Amino acid sequence: MKITDFYSYRKPGPKISMVTAYDYTLGSLVAESAADCVLVGDSAAMVMHGHASTIAATPEMMAWHTAAVARAVKDRLVTADIPFLSVRKGLGPAMETVEALARAGAQAVKIEGLDGHGDIISHIVQSDMPVMGHLGLTPQSLNRLGGYRAQGRDEASAARLAAQAQELERRGCFALVLECVPSALAGRITGLLKIPVIGIGAGPHTDGQVLVTQDLLGLYPAAPSFVKKYLDGRGLLVKALNDFDGEVKGSEFPAAKRKSDGNSERNEAVAGAPYGPAVRR
Ligand code: KIV
Repeated sequence: MKITDFYSYRKPGPKISMVTAYDYTLGSLVAESAADCVLVGDSAAMVMHGHASTIAATPEMMAWHTAAVARAVKDRLVTADIPFLSVRKGLGPAMETVEALARAGAQAVKIEGLDGHGDIISHIVQSDMPVMGHLGLTPQSLNRLGGYRAQGRDEASAARLAAQAQELERRGCFALVLECVPSALAGRITGLLKIPVIGIGAGPHTDGQVLVTQDLLGLYPAAPSFVKKYLDGRGLLVKALNDFDGEVKGSEFPAAKRKSDGNSERNEAVAGAPYGPAVRR
């Protein structure tokens, strides 16, 4: 899915699937999959760097991850997160972050919240960098929210979120991520907006869904409770590591003979062959 597909999105359209990626290998897996688009989320600070929250993400960190993903994903929209405080230091620093992410390969940026930086969102949109909004549980607001709690649970805060969503659309956002709000509210906001709404922990009534790939693959040890795991990734990977460990200790690997199926059991570079992907495989 490219940015133009988002611009031409008409409801009720096909559901949009978005997944996160942070590095080349995961990006290449996503590129091979049918997932519609890729988010280089600031969740990288947690799932890639082990921080307790996304507040630790920096523009440099996001640019580094974006560049690695963009090298792998060529044919789908790559959106990168604007990290904590980057739109709160004034227009110049905000645009420097946008520029760093765009030069790293992002075709769009995602910005959490609205209050106090609506004009900066408009300026980024008018500078030809598409902006995806993000409302509801905005993880960068963790210190204010006092924890990862569902948002919009009473009518006053639901109405406020609906008004903010409409304001983001008015300011030119091409899509909106809605995180951890009641599914009825997600449906209400989805019905109010022309742009696609992509939910996470927000029930089925949105135009699409996004998940952190490490969560859906069962790799990250502390995935949120609403996440459906499509794979026991940790179990499978730990088993492979244990198989390797067992074979090394049992002197089964490397094997004396090279297998013909291309899965080298001899662990010996072929004489004269360049050291690179073909040999490493
Ligand atoms: O950082 C991230 O991965 C996100 C998604 C969970 C929406 O913002």
